[in-house]
Amino acid sequence: MFNLFRKKADSNESGKLPFQVEVHCHVLPGIDDGSKTVESSVEIVGKLQSMGIRKIIATPHITNETFPNTKETIEAACNLLKPALIREGIDVELVYSAEYRLDELFDKIHAEKALIPFPKSCVLIENSFIQPYWALEKLIFDMQTEQLNPIIAHIERYAYYYDDKKKVEAYKQQGCLFQVNLLSFTGYYGLSTRDFALWLLSEGMIDFMGTDVHNMRQLHMLETFLQGKTYKKIAEQLKRFPLKNDLFLTE
Ligand SMILES: [Fe+2]
Repeated sequence: MFNLFRKKADSNESGKLPFQVEVHCHVLPGIDDGSKTVESSVEIVGKLQSMGIRKIIATPHITNETFPNTKETIEAACNLLKPALIREGIDVELVYSAEYRLDELFDKIHAEKALIPFPKSCVLIENSFIQPYWALEKLIFDMQTEQLNPIIAHIERYAYYYDDKKKVEAYKQQGCLFQVNLLSFTGYYGLSTRDFALWLLSEGMIDFMGTDVHNMRQLHMLETFLQGKTYKKIAEQLKRFPLKNDLFLTE
């Protein structure tokens, strides 16, 4: 009887996320491959709230080819969503930044010193999935010199690092921050991605986790995962290597 009660108290039956600040998500309506409408954005943010999120840093794609968003397009989408959240009684703080693909547009915005950083001057950067950025080490150094803190988005998803862990360790030694998608632990992006995420976790190299949510289906998958046994082991590891997400709660 007592064991039964203990089991209940130990498991994450609530499906809560291991952070209260979402740092990687596509919840702004109509400006990338994430939420298409204000209504679906409200639904996603409401669900994130029920999973424990109190603050969202929205990170719509900025890519040269597909989503050449600007501060204006992002701010406009944010201003559409904010009043809708208030109308629905959803009490989640919403701020915006971006997920910058490392391409020519990024180089231009960077050169113009027009990046939209997170709090604490962090900038979420995304590599191509096909080939590594040609000069990432230099870019990290340059950004740090400019008092910017690069965060590599879902670093576990770049297959070219799977046999090149030394490179990942070198970026970490440079002081680069790493973000991992929680969905990666489910096998959603494949087993190699899952294994790499587990390696990063065991090495204490994950600074931030995020949902990288684009739609409700992903949140339902995550919610189920958070209630399962596999997640319990991850949560144990996170006690040794706490995430930095919630440092953004007060900024
Ligand atoms: Fe993303």
